[in-house]
Order: sequence, then structure tokens, then C-alpha cells
Amino acid sequence: MVTTKSKNKEFIDRDKHCVNQVLSRLAPIVAERGEGSYLYDVDGNKYLDMTTGIGVTNVGHCHPRVVEAIREQASQLIHTSVTTYHRKYIETAEKIKSLSPGKLDSVFLANSGAECVEGAVKLAKYVTNRPGMINFLGSFHGRTHMCMALTTSKLYYKDMMEPLPPAIYTAPFPYVFRSNTPDNPEAVVDETFRQIDVLFNQFISPKQVAAFVVEPILGEGGYVVPPDSFLPRLRKLADQHGIMLIIDEVQSGFGRTGKMWAIDHIGVEPDILTMAKGIAAGMPLAAFVSRKELTDTWPAGRHGTTFGGNPVACAAALASMQVIEEEKLAERAEKLGNEMMTRLKKLAEDRPHIGEVRGRGLMIGIEFCDKDGKPSKEWVDKVVKGCLEHNMLVLSCGQAGQVVRLIPPLTISDSEAEKALEILEIVTRA
Ligand SMILES: Cc1ncc(COP(=O)(O)O)c(C=O)c1O
Repeated sequence: MVTTKSKNKEFIDRDKHCVNQVLSRLAPIVAERGEGSYLYDVDGNKYLDMTTGIGVTNVGHCHPRVVEAIREQASQLIHTSVTTYHRKYIETAEKIKSLSPGKLDSVFLANSGAECVEGAVKLAKYVTNRPGMINFLGSFHGRTHMCMALTTSKLYYKDMMEPLPPAIYTAPFPYVFRSNTPDNPEAVVDETFRQIDVLFNQFISPKQVAAFVVEPILGEGGYVVPPDSFLPRLRKLADQHGIMLIIDEVQSGFGRTGKMWAIDHIGVEPDILTMAKGIAAGMPLAAFVSRKELTDTWPAGRHGTTFGGNPVACAAALASMQVIEEEKLAERAEKLGNEMMTRLKKLAEDRPHIGEVRGRGLMIGIEFCDKDGKPSKEWVDKVVKGCLEHNMLVLSCGQAGQVVRLIPPLTISDSEAEKALEILEIVTRA
């Protein structure tokens, strides 16, 4: 915690004098060390980290196997870029291909979520020779210009940034809790497809649409899980019109939701799958995966990167993916996630200000409401602050900041999860 004499405060004061303050930081603590489910600050305080650096350290902070892989690779080769091939790139691509659904067999490695979404969009435009995109209300895809254009979770992220890439049309995401028919999820999905029809009839011909770009679970937009029928219907519609389906699993991938991919719960296969965050335990790496039959039409050099697929990041990814598989972390996420959600739903029964507890696996959202049932950022701010006072880090999300998201490491122990629930029990009291 920050006190007037703390080292935390000293560093934060220095930060103000040299760091671009557009970077918004959640907690006024300066992290020095991470281990498993915990972060330690420069004053030696210990925090239970239910944020995992926004869904990144799925295997916990500094997993020993990842640390060792990084150490070993750093002593061998740190960088070559595209001037040569290197074996860790190839091994990482082989591994991602083996984990990817269905016929996805062609991997491109990038550095960040936004970058892999950009790559996916470029590929879709190239192979279809069409300009348009259809995105969904509440989505978040990143901070670059194309990704800002595709992002509708908050205006704040793209306000004053016009002109943004054109030919992007937005359909409603089936957000059942905030819909007009919360008791009828299928009617909410029907409405989404009715609105896509409106887009096709009145805004852009489907023949001009290169791709649907969609998160299987809204992340930044509020941890919204759509009804299971949504993505299969979207797949069908995409096939009818020769539109690529880009599924953005940057936040939901790598075991987070209880399966390797959120789409594995419903068996939908995209044309292009994007992934990042949980891929390499915190080293900068991302990927988009498609089918060779598509990517082989894309001439060499049409897309590229200097740093993407860096050997050290790849070594970390290989170790991290191995840990996820061998320690059966997706299964753990499913079991523990269900247990936590059951407990939180029970808690919500005597908390009228908790509107909904939802999620899949260890991607859990708690939506807060005011006394009129409207989204309550005030409650979320109170809970985030309360958690910090109990040395626990949690993040918010949602279009109005009305959702507390829990994204613990998939390695979190039962007793740590219990501790998190106890803190939430306290800080959500009226
Ligand atoms: C679904 C999704 N796509 C893309 C991104 C952008 O990733 P990055 O911040 O690594 O560019 C994010 C980041 O939160 C995300 O959640």
C-alpha cells in the first residue's frame, strides 16, 4: 500500500516525470516480483493477483519451467527476425497448429493482440478481395487504427481518432442480460441476425464483406457469454456468403475458459483464429492461424514483422503451452470456475446490487447494478478499491465499467481461490 515514505510512492512520482501518462494503471503499486498467484511490490507487500496482467499469466507468475526455457533460449539466440528461419518459431507453429481446431494449419506469429487482429483482417481482405467488415457491439480488438475501428466496447478508446478505416458495420452482440428479452436467449440471438440482415439489405452487400470479426466471449466489453447458438449460426451465414469468420480468442484462449479455446465449447471452426495474452506467460507473442489453402495465396512479404516470433518469446510459449497441457490447466479452469461461479451466484442472492454472475471457466464477470437495475460503475469502483485494501487485485470491464472481472491464474490453488471469494464476500456488502 502506498504511504508517504514508501518506495512505491517514490517510483510513482518518478513515473509521472518521464512516462507518458496516457498509460492508465490500475493500482498505485510498483511490482517487483511475481510468483504463482502473487505479485510483490517494491515495499515487500504481497497481492493476490486475480488479473494475471489482463489474462496473460495463465500458468502463474514466473512458472519455473517458463523461466528456465527463457534463460536457456536467451543464452543461445535472442533474435534473428526474418533474415533466417529459426527452430523455436517452427516448433511453436507446430504446437499451435496441433492445438488449433479443425483444419487450421497455417500460423503467423506476431507480438501483440492488436497486431494479430490486424494480420487476420489483412488476410481476410486479401483472400476475399472485399473491403467490408462486420463487428459486434461491445467488442474490443486493440488500439491500432484498424483495431480501434473494430472496437465498440467504449467510445473512449477511439474518440478523436477519426478518420478510422471505413467499411466496418456493427451488429448487436447477443448480450442477454441487458437485452429486451432476458428470459428468452434465443430471441436475443434472432435479433442479432435480424440486424445483420438489415446491414446486408441497407448498408453493405454481403458480397462486399470480407469478414465477421467476433470475440467468442466479450472480454473488455463485460465478460458476456453469448447463447451457444450464436456462433454456429454466424458460421453458417458466413459460409452462405463466402465471408471469412475471424474469431478473436486473444483474451479467451489457452485454457482460460475450461477448454483450450472458448469455441471448443461449441465446436465452431473459424477461418482465422487470433490468439495472444495467455500464449507465452507474459513474453510478447501473438498468433493468427488460418488454413494453408488460404495463406498460400498470400505472396511472401505482403505481411511481415521484425520482432514477431522472437526466439525467447517462442521458447516461453512452448514451455507455457506444455504446462497448460501437462498440468491439465484447462480442466482445472473448468472445475474451479464452476465452483467459484456457484459460490458467487449464491452470494448474489443477498446482494441486490449484483445483477449477474457469468462466465466460462476462469473468465468470470460480476455485473453490478444500481437500485434501478442500471449498470453501476460506482459499485465496481468500490469493489476494486475494497479488494486492493485487502491486497487483492481485480480488474473491471463492461461498456459502463459495470463488471468486475476475475481472471486468476489457472494454477490458482483452492485455498487462494477461497481467499479471493472471502474478500469478495466482504467488499460486496452493502
Ligand atoms: C479480445 C481482444 N483482442 C485484442 C486485444 C488487443 O491485445 P493487445 O493489447 O495485446 O494489443 C485484446 C486486449 O485486451 C483483447 O482482449
